[in-house]
Amino acid sequence: MNQQAGKFSRLGFVLSATGAAVGLGNIWKFPYITGVYGGGAFVMVYLVTILLIGASLLIAEMLIGKRGQKDCVSSFEELAPPDRKGWKYAGFMLFTGLVIMTFYSVVIGWIFYYMYLAIAGLPTTIESAKGTFDALYAHAPFLQIFFHLISVLFVAYVLLGGIKKGIEKTNLILIPFLLFILLGLLVYALNFDGFAKAVSFMFAPDFSKLSAEAIIRAVGHSFFTLSIGIGSILTYAAALPKHSNIYKAGLMVAFMDTLIALIAGLVIFSFLFQFGGTPDKGPGLVFVSLPVIFAKLGTLGQGIAFIFFVAMAVAGLTSAISLVEPAVMYLEDRLGWVRKKAVLWSSLLYFLIGVFVIFSISDGFKAPFTFGTKSLFDVLEFAVDSFLMPLGGFLIAIFVGYVLKREVVESELLGHMGNTVFKIWYFSIRFIAPLAVLFLAYNALKV
Ligand code: TRP
Repeated sequence: MNQQAGKFSRLGFVLSATGAAVGLGNIWKFPYITGVYGGGAFVMVYLVTILLIGASLLIAEMLIGKRGQKDCVSSFEELAPPDRKGWKYAGFMLFTGLVIMTFYSVVIGWIFYYMYLAIAGLPTTIESAKGTFDALYAHAPFLQIFFHLISVLFVAYVLLGGIKKGIEKTNLILIPFLLFILLGLLVYALNFDGFAKAVSFMFAPDFSKLSAEAIIRAVGHSFFTLSIGIGSILTYAAALPKHSNIYKAGLMVAFMDTLIALIAGLVIFSFLFQFGGTPDKGPGLVFVSLPVIFAKLGTLGQGIAFIFFVAMAVAGLTSAISLVEPAVMYLEDRLGWVRKKAVLWSSLLYFLIGVFVIFSISDGFKAPFTFGTKSLFDVLEFAVDSFLMPLGGFLIAIFVGYVLKREVVESELLGHMGNTVFKIWYFSIRFIAPLAVLFLAYNALKV
């Protein structure tokens, strides 16, 4: 463990892990896939998956980090029995974080641009909003690179401070701030007639709308939203003090993540139903439909839009930090680099690939970065969603369920969980989670 980096406080850890979990996945993706897949029934599957599989895996990943006390690769190596040290290669799941960042940071950049638009003037019709988004997405690569760079620099700056002065401090400030904004928006939306419609859209399940594809998306998203399977949570947990209760911390993080996704969904759908929009607009929901609604509300709307995009940027940035830290910690602890050098090279790497990702969606630049019909952006996102993250989740489940001795696992959890909960959790890790992941990977490859 790196001495300078220090240890988290209990609250610092829970808020930082919440910061990792709560991201664009909650505020951008969850509402739009809920809209696309028809609401209530989809939300129900999502909630059950979080409870049965997501939370269990989250706790399992925390366990590896907390017991290992080292970077992702070394923690696996340390805990594996002497004849199975090859498990250290599982630790290379940490590179997935950099892969995710090549597009995640680009999307954070779009949000910065929309913060600017909120002040400068929002589009007032759906047509012009589509045009505005398209002008950014497909026709302004250098503007995107500029905003992507700002996000890279912010994340690098926080990472330079290490666990205590960088990551913990940032999350201690930003996560309560984010909650405050979202609760404020929720209270505002409570006054709308649209609020009741939003509640019934999200919570009254209509199972006839539930397709197999919807189930796959719900399971996949539950991994993504809890930040499972790439060593982020593991790396944070490696900086936990000895006697921390990872059961309680894990539940807390899963709860906060779910709560924030639901609040974001309620806020967005209340605005939509109140001011006449439909929920099934896909990825453009927050970049196309919402701005038009905000624009209708005049100056007040501009203010709300600005606050909303600030919240989204905060959610994204605190996640981004957790996506890069595993690589930084690895370079530092395992290869003995100083933190500055580790931050510099990891940031540079995903920044540059991010530039190619931007070119891959920009008219006039995309040709070299297009594979068949898919842009580099699509290819990377697909690889992460359907292969890299499920693989990471699978390895974590197998490692904790079968490779680690039961006594080790028990010593970390039994006292906190009690017998019955422990049994359910252990069963989930050994059987339900690996099967769910295989199901996910199998289905993803079919499409
Ligand atoms: N959970 C974040 C979101 O919902 C994204 C994220 C951050 C993530 N760290 C991660 C996803 C680690 C997978 C693994 O936006």
